[in-house]
Amino acid sequence: MCSIIGYKGASYAAPLIIESLRRMEYRGYDSVGIATIDAGNILVSKGVGKVAEVSRALGFQKMPGQIGIGHTRWATHGGITNANAHPHEACTSKVAVVHNGIIENYRELKRDLISSGHSFKSETDSEVIAHMLEESLSVVQDKVKAFVKVCSKLKGAYAFVAVFSDGTLCGSRYDEPLIVGLSNDGYFISSDVLGFLQYTDKAIFLDNKDIAVVAGENLYLYDSDGNAVRREITQVAWELGAADKGAYAHHTLKEIHEQRKTVLSGMDQNEKDLISFCDILLQAKSVYITGSGTSYHSALLAKYIFAKLAKIRTEPILSSEFQYVLDFIDKDSVILAISQSGETADVLNSVKHAKETGAKVLSIVNISTSSLARLSDSFLTVNCGPEVGVAATKSFTGQLSVIYAVTDRLCGYSLGIVSKKQAIASAIEDVLSLEDNTIKLADLLKDLRDIYILGKSLHYPIALEGALKIKELTYLHAEGIAAGELKHGPLALIDENSIVMVINPRDNTFNDVLSNAHEIKSRGAKIIGISTEPDEVYDHFINIPNFDSILYPLIEIVPLQLLAYHLALKKNADPDYPRNLAKSVTVK
Ligand code: AGP
Repeated sequence: MCSIIGYKGASYAAPLIIESLRRMEYRGYDSVGIATIDAGNILVSKGVGKVAEVSRALGFQKMPGQIGIGHTRWATHGGITNANAHPHEACTSKVAVVHNGIIENYRELKRDLISSGHSFKSETDSEVIAHMLEESLSVVQDKVKAFVKVCSKLKGAYAFVAVFSDGTLCGSRYDEPLIVGLSNDGYFISSDVLGFLQYTDKAIFLDNKDIAVVAGENLYLYDSDGNAVRREITQVAWELGAADKGAYAHHTLKEIHEQRKTVLSGMDQNEKDLISFCDILLQAKSVYITGSGTSYHSALLAKYIFAKLAKIRTEPILSSEFQYVLDFIDKDSVILAISQSGETADVLNSVKHAKETGAKVLSIVNISTSSLARLSDSFLTVNCGPEVGVAATKSFTGQLSVIYAVTDRLCGYSLGIVSKKQAIASAIEDVLSLEDNTIKLADLLKDLRDIYILGKSLHYPIALEGALKIKELTYLHAEGIAAGELKHGPLALIDENSIVMVINPRDNTFNDVLSNAHEIKSRGAKIIGISTEPDEVYDHFINIPNFDSILYPLIEIVPLQLLAYHLALKKNADPDYPRNLAKSVTVK
């Protein structure tokens, strides 16, 4: 969840590190810190807040030295304070560490370190690593041996980078990503390729427990026993420009608007990859689809689409619940994992558990170099470019596009997705032009305590996703409800002060959902209809274009995303960086 970066090379480290942290800030934005080495001294500067403001206030830019580390934090252990911000130094200020992950046994380790005389300045689990390195180095005097010893004692998932006062930069990982970037003038060690992609596209993805050491002008790699190893250099492909927000006020707004194009990229799958992906799916005795948050909503929608068109029965399971239903999974099962980042801990854990049973793993990811893609027997990419806004928008419709492309292949191309691409793009263009309408609705909804969104069949996952967008961006309580379930309980919540949104384009659920809308209206509530046709039951109406009914989900989510964005602005919330959240959730 945190971002970590280390640099050693011919350039000044601080400006490079600030830029890297700015690009990785979506991983966590509670606090930020930098350490550089100058004339054999470690200089540390850190504070609570976002990269731009802390960096400006503390003058990061002017920190001297060509070696350094940096961190943005998503707090897990210890409050959001300056003391808990990384980097953390050991007692003698000869080593400083930035860490991402959770050291599960930090209490025991800390207790032992305190009893051997170490004193701690923070409440974090991370600080133990700095003291452990200091302790080990006093015994073995060799950084690789010290790393081997320290890593062998850590329990939990981690990636950390340490900088030593003698100018050595080292990093290691276990179940959290850590990637070495090789540029013309030096080396980066980063939790994300975005940390160095502006400087180089040559990367080494470290294996679990690998140790990377940059000493002098060279990079050395070791395995967990300290034996020298070689790892392949990968060329990373990415559209860098797309990570800027351009003329838009926020990344989130830009990413919502980009959907007119990105929705098509997910449908453009390489035929060979699509065939091998579908072959694995077709050979499965049982198919489980897993994901978290928005990606779980894609999984849920995939269940309806696969069933309706490809006649394949699948079971969607939240990744955080996956290990508790493992009894069903065996070598004839296929797990389809959906994840924008490909680094979500719950998803990776599900996949690892499934692999232990011999099940095959398929995935749909946005980042083809991610841990999930690497763990998969076959994967397809969403190809929507970097998504910076913490709330998933274009990656959601991108995931749906891949699901439609897979379904089309599975049903012998009877969906004809390729011939519908232009129509899909212009339908999205049409709903994007409804932005003024959503601004007016945001005014109507901004003072409510609760917002309900109803949908049936294909529209139910969209109701859930629309509610998630409103929750994360506006901090209002929003609930997606299966329209037919209303009478089984939630109707009790409705009174004359309620406003209920109803997703109801013309398809085989239309009449039932219209009846549900009437039932709500007769309790005095107001109704906002999202539909292809107006009706007297709607007090407010968002008119979406008539379309191929199976494809409606791609279209109808867009006004809900716009509404959530504009509601966030009305409530003075930062739509790009919602409080308490991080984009890549790499802890359990
Ligand atoms: C979506 O708006 C959320 N920020 C969150 O639910 C997200 O979808 C979830 O954490 C899963 O992320 P992933 O797709 O990268 O695995």
